[in-house]
Amino acid sequence: MQTFFKYIVTVLIITIISINAKSKDPVRGHNGMVVSASDIASLVGVDILEKGGNAVDAAVATGFALAVTYPQAGNIGGGGFMVIHLEDGTNTSIDYREKAPKSAFRDMFLDKYGKYDLTKSTEGWSSSGVPGSVAGLLYALEKYGTMTRDEVIQPAIKLAYNGFLADYRFAETLNNYKNVFAKYKSTAKIFTKKDEEFSEGELFIQKDLAKTLKSIKLNGTEGFYKGEVADLIAKHSKSKGGLITKEDLANYNAVERAPVIGNYRNSTIISMGPPSSGGIALLEALNSIEYFSFEKDSWGSSNYIHKVSEVLKYVYADRAEHLGDVDFYPVPQNWLISKKRGKEIAALINDNAIPSKIISHAIPPKKESEETTHYSVVDSYGNAVSVTTTLNSTFGNKIVVSGAGFIMNNEMDDFSAKPGTSNQYGLLGGEANAIEPNKRMLSAMTPTIILNSEDKPFMIIGSPGGSTIITTVLQIILNVIDFNMDIQTAIDAPRFHHQWKPDRIDFEHFGMTDDVKKNLIKRGQFIGKERVLGRAEGIIIDYKNNVIWGASDPRGFGAAVGY
Ligand code: GLY
Repeated sequence: MQTFFKYIVTVLIITIISINAKSKDPVRGHNGMVVSASDIASLVGVDILEKGGNAVDAAVATGFALAVTYPQAGNIGGGGFMVIHLEDGTNTSIDYREKAPKSAFRDMFLDKYGKYDLTKSTEGWSSSGVPGSVAGLLYALEKYGTMTRDEVIQPAIKLAYNGFLADYRFAETLNNYKNVFAKYKSTAKIFTKKDEEFSEGELFIQKDLAKTLKSIKLNGTEGFYKGEVADLIAKHSKSKGGLITKEDLANYNAVERAPVIGNYRNSTIISMGPPSSGGIALLEALNSIEYFSFEKDSWGSSNYIHKVSEVLKYVYADRAEHLGDVDFYPVPQNWLISKKRGKEIAALINDNAIPSKIISHAIPPKKESEETTHYSVVDSYGNAVSVTTTLNSTFGNKIVVSGAGFIMNNEMDDFSAKPGTSNQYGLLGGEANAIEPNKRMLSAMTPTIILNSEDKPFMIIGSPGGSTIITTVLQIILNVIDFNMDIQTAIDAPRFHHQWKPDRIDFEHFGMTDDVKKNLIKRGQFIGKERVLGRAEGIIIDYKNNVIWGASDPRGFGAAVGY
């Protein structure tokens, strides 16, 4: 009897442990799902799906809505990347990364002593690239969507014109930036309140932004890149010493590019190619990690963190040396994403850490902004869309275009201003990413779609986080494929980050026990800072049970909405 009782208790304990060893269930849907950093924007996307729109229609509507409800990174004054898988098997990507203005030049962020001036590349109009989001979203809609501009932009216009109710985080974020916004009259007019703070529950109205969105709705790309809106951008830029002209705006084009595609174990990984480094770095890492097999209970172990970190050192060194805008620089893409390169890296890895300084003499890129935003979409037709978009820093350069109501990016900081100098987030950049007129700056954004062995979309994932985007997306994929986690658990789990230089492993709260740290140090690793790494928005489709699972990262305040 006593033995039986012991058995019952043991079973109960094991059951409780295994129940607790996962996050709460992800959000369920059966027909479609939108996961974004703003609950209102996710609802806009799902409404489009419910009206019969496809995933591209929903993604475009979500993108415009984010420009209203999530102005810290959602945008029409920035740029982004969209990876698309269509139900007919087509895989494609749209590059709407910002471009350097025509009069930009290599040394534009150096002072008279040749020293890199961070202020110039992150503040004021000189920090802005020519925005790409409007061109990219409309390109996607026209080629792959099914709805009209009116249908997909009107919800954003309504949110801007009639306002939306600020939740406490929105109010708090604006209040936190009050002093910075106050520096710019056009920004202060919209994003600050005279002698008062924003509070939870108040209506936040953006009439100028509504007017700009209406111009886009009525006139398409011409409603932004030509005419009144272009005049407002060029005029404001010129008055403050910026380089963006009407000619730059009129010449901006989104480019449809072949995505980078590879295999990991039995899945097909589809991600963004240059000018993003994300897809190539992700595939290079996976091709190498494929040579290691991790036991289920090795998650979080020193062996796991060591092996993945060693792979990442090579991946980020290659990134620094070889990645930039393919229209300007011969990126050796095929070699970087080849199984041969993955095997070469795996063969170099042993139980002892290889110091970063002997891995490569490449010049590491500068630090990259961690404020960006990602959204993932699937529809009931079998289409999937993965979008990462950004203004670079939180609220970009904080400058609202006078009379047009939207914030400009400070994406010029993503170029290597002086090959060899760190940017605000610690990455160093080489020649491939030097500033040139009309060039697109290197990005780490990694919007990704994963297909199952039957070539059906199985996972849609991406994250903000600057240089940590790649390691965030990588670890969530490993959590799902190697460690069999559901999408919420995979996103919630603590992450670590190594980017070759600085030579250290950063980690999240509760992400590394003291024992693990000690073992890593014994292997020659350096333990870095505790910090928050990424804010992913992901979806997994379970065909067997006809369920779509959506998960928004608890590190942020977004929402998965399914139907
Ligand atoms: N600005 C962040 C990125 O493009 O990766």
